[in-house]
Amino acid sequence: MSCVLEFTDVRKTFRLGFIPKPREVLKGITFAVEEGEVFGYLGPNGAGKTTTIKCALGLIFPDAGTIRLFGRPHLDPKAKTGLGFLPENPYFYDYLTASEFLDFYARLFGIPAEVRSERIPRLLRQVSMERAADLPLRKFSRGMLQRVGLAQALINDPSLVILDEPLGGLDPLGRKEIRDIILGLRDAGKTVVFTSHILQDIEMICRRVAVIIGGRILSQGRLADLVSEKVLFTEITVSGVPEAELAAFGACLGEPGGRVLVKVSDEPGVEAVLETVRARKARVHSLVPRTQTLEDIFVDMVRTK
Ligand SMILES: Nc1ncnc2c1ncn2[C@@H]1O[C@H](COP(=O)(O)OP(=O)(O)OP(=O)(O)O)[C@@H](O)[C@H]1O
Ligand SMILES: [Mg+2]
Repeated sequence: MSCVLEFTDVRKTFRLGFIPKPREVLKGITFAVEEGEVFGYLGPNGAGKTTTIKCALGLIFPDAGTIRLFGRPHLDPKAKTGLGFLPENPYFYDYLTASEFLDFYARLFGIPAEVRSERIPRLLRQVSMERAADLPLRKFSRGMLQRVGLAQALINDPSLVILDEPLGGLDPLGRKEIRDIILGLRDAGKTVVFTSHILQDIEMICRRVAVIIGGRILSQGRLADLVSEKVLFTEITVSGVPEAELAAFGACLGEPGGRVLVKVSDEPGVEAVLETVRARKARVHSLVPRTQTLEDIFVDMVRTK
């Protein structure tokens, strides 16, 4: 499996203020994206995600470290031809229609007319925007703009698509649609890198993730390896047993209808609760083992940074 994007110890310092004060925003970023995977770049606001992406695209220049695109130095024009990009805050010429907008970008890439006339309607279909093809962009909602932006990122049929917050500002349905498009790109053999600070989105579609906090990658790897299957605690909802009796097994919470929710920390605790319920001929309504999520890890990392 070859690497399509590779960062090695990339550093970037910005100088801010009237008397410029240096601030290191990327503190030695190292990661590699493999061909054909969906790679999530996760981090809170201000962590350095967009700065990393801008470095990869050659829009800003790192102070140290190396970046390779498709195995070549990232500023090599040949490396960039296989790249598609959706910026965080795309600026659209809002008097253009969706078709005209895509045609404009296709011409920038020098795509011939016969390819454009086939590709543009196909891309609009792919992002479910074919009905809005002739509508000016100023009449588009945020979700519609995001989809047209995604079509723009695909106009040159790239093999690597970099998306900066593609799911930002979308409602749950819009997010699902964009997630499905990303999975469709993966199924078509493309590599996708996308940034997000929303854990669920990353969890749902990424094979591997890197977590950046304060300009450092604090964790990276396969999602399955980062998030253990370990059960953190089990929540059991019971009725017919007095709360005072259940309190011996863990924290209790009274619920409507005389039910009690007990939070039990280990397996013997679960057995003990079930034993008590059986002895009293009472009822178990639910038993939910809570495993670790990416959110638990993320919150831990932000706290202990
Ligand atoms: N051109 C710049 N000049 C000075 N500081 C900058 C510049 N660009 C970014 N920064 C600073 O670098 C830090 C990282 O910014 P960046 O945009 O990379 O974060 P991010 O992870 O993309 O955050 P968000 O989730 O809000 O998009 C921030 O503190 C920001 O203020
Ligand atoms: Mg950003």
